[in-house]
Amino acid sequence: MEHRKILDILRHGHPHETAIVRGWIRTKRDLKNFSFIELNDGSALANLQIVINPQVASPDLLKQLNTGASIEVQGTLVDSPAKGQRLELQAQQIHLYGGVDSETYPLQKKRHSFEFLRTIAHLRSRTNTLSAVFRVRNSAANAIHQFFQERGFLWIHTPILTSSDCEGAGELFNVTQLDLANIPKTERQSVDYQHDFFGKPAYLTVSGQLEAEVMAMAFSNVYTFGPTFRAENSNTSRHLAEFWMIEPEMAFCDLQGDMDLAQDFLKSIVQAVLNTCPEDLDFFNQRIDKTVLSRAEAIVNQDFERLTYSEAIAQLERSNQSFEFPVEWGLDLQSEHERYLTEQLIGKPVILYDYPIGIKAFYMRANDDGRTVAAMDVLVPQIGEIIGGSQREERLDLLQQRLQASGLNEQDYWWYLDLRRYGTVPHAGFGLGFERLVQFITGMSNIRDVIPFPRAPMSIEF
Ligand code: 4AD
Ligand code: MG
Repeated sequence: MEHRKILDILRHGHPHETAIVRGWIRTKRDLKNFSFIELNDGSALANLQIVINPQVASPDLLKQLNTGASIEVQGTLVDSPAKGQRLELQAQQIHLYGGVDSETYPLQKKRHSFEFLRTIAHLRSRTNTLSAVFRVRNSAANAIHQFFQERGFLWIHTPILTSSDCEGAGELFNVTQLDLANIPKTERQSVDYQHDFFGKPAYLTVSGQLEAEVMAMAFSNVYTFGPTFRAENSNTSRHLAEFWMIEPEMAFCDLQGDMDLAQDFLKSIVQAVLNTCPEDLDFFNQRIDKTVLSRAEAIVNQDFERLTYSEAIAQLERSNQSFEFPVEWGLDLQSEHERYLTEQLIGKPVILYDYPIGIKAFYMRANDDGRTVAAMDVLVPQIGEIIGGSQREERLDLLQQRLQASGLNEQDYWWYLDLRRYGTVPHAGFGLGFERLVQFITGMSNIRDVIPFPRAPMSIEF
C-alpha cells in the first residue's frame, strides 16, 4: 500500500479506510491506556492525530516516540471525538525510522523566537510558522509561472555571472577565481586571490533585466525567475544579499502597460495563494499579523492608486509628518516615506511613477519634461517598495547620452546598444522581489524568515 500525505487524508479521507503515513512527531501525550501522537509531514499545517494502544507499541518503542522522531504508521482512519479534527488514525503498526535525543533536540514544545530559529535553519522548517511560510512560497512561485505561461510569456534563464552592473548602484559581489588544487588547506587563508573570471572582471548579477531585454527583442514577452545578489551591507528586515526576483519584459509596451501588468500580476498571485493555502493564511492572520487577510482581500478587490513621484512628494510635504530622512524633490524615497504613503495617506497599494532622472538607472526612458524618467515603483502597506520597473530608453542617441552622463563606458554596452540599432521598439518591464511578496502575503516581519537559507550580513553559516 502507498503511503498518503496527511493533507490528502485530512481533506479526502474516510472513516474505516486503511492508511499509511510517514512524518515527524510534533508531540506525544501518554494517557493511562493509550498514547496520542501528533504527526506532521509538511503537507499541511494541521497534524494527524495517531492513537496508539499498548498492543501496538512495546514500552521500549513507545519511549522512543519523542518529539522530532521520524516514523511510519499503518492504521485505520476513524471519526475523531476531539475538537477541531475530523479524523484520527488508529495505529496498527509503527515503524521508527530515526529517534531523537530529547535532551539535545533544539525544538521543544514551547514557542521559540524567530531569532533563535534562524540559528537552527536546518530544523526550523519543522515548526508551524516556517512550514506555513514555505508552503505559501511554493504556492506563490507556482502561481507566478502560471500567470505568465497563460499569457504567452516565455520563461528565460539569464546568467548569474555577469560583467555589467545593471542598476549602476555598485552593489556587486565580486567573483573570485580560485585555483586551490595545488595549495595546501592550511595555506589557503593567506593566498592573494585574483579578483577575476579568466582574466576579466566578473560579478554576481544584481538583475537579469538587460538580458531579458535582449530576449524580449525576439520573443516580445518574456520573464525571468531567478536568484539575484546585492552587496548591500544593510541589516534591515527587507534586504537580503541573495534574493529571488521575477522580471517580466515586454516589447511594444509603455509605462501604462507596465503598470497595468504589475497590478494584474499582484492581484492574481495573491488570489491564487488565497485559493491554495487558506489554512496557512488563517494561521498567519491569527498568529503573526491580524491584517494579513484584510490586506490580501484589499489587493484583490481594489485598483491600486497611481500617483506621480512629484505628487507624492507634495503630499508628504503637506502632511507635516516628521521623518528621519528628508522629503525633497530629487531625493529617493525611504521606506518610512513609502510606508507612510500607503498606510496613512492613501490606505492601499500605490504605484508611483515619473521619478527624477538623477536618482534612476541609465536605462530608463527620459520623459519630455527633461527632468523625469518613465519609472514606476509599486508600494504596499507594511513593506513599502515591492516592485521596481520602467519603460526602457529605446532611442539610441538618448541612451548613449545617458550612459555617458552616468559615467558608464559605451563599449561595455555594445550589445545593449545594438538592440537600439537593429529593430528597436518601445519596451518596458519590472522586477518583483519574491521575498518581499512572501513577506507581504504572510505578514512575517523579517525577510530572513521567508527564505529557507537567508544570505545577509552575518548569515552564511549553512
Ligand atoms: O528596484 P530594483 O532594484 O529593480 C531592478 O532590479 C530592475 N532591474 C527590475 C526591472 O525593471 N526588471 O529591484 C526590484 C525589486 C525591488 O522592488 C524589491 O522588491 C526587490 O527587487 N529587492 C530586494 N529584495 C530583497 N533584498 C534586496 N536587497 C533587494 N533589492 C531589491
Ligand atoms: Mg527599486
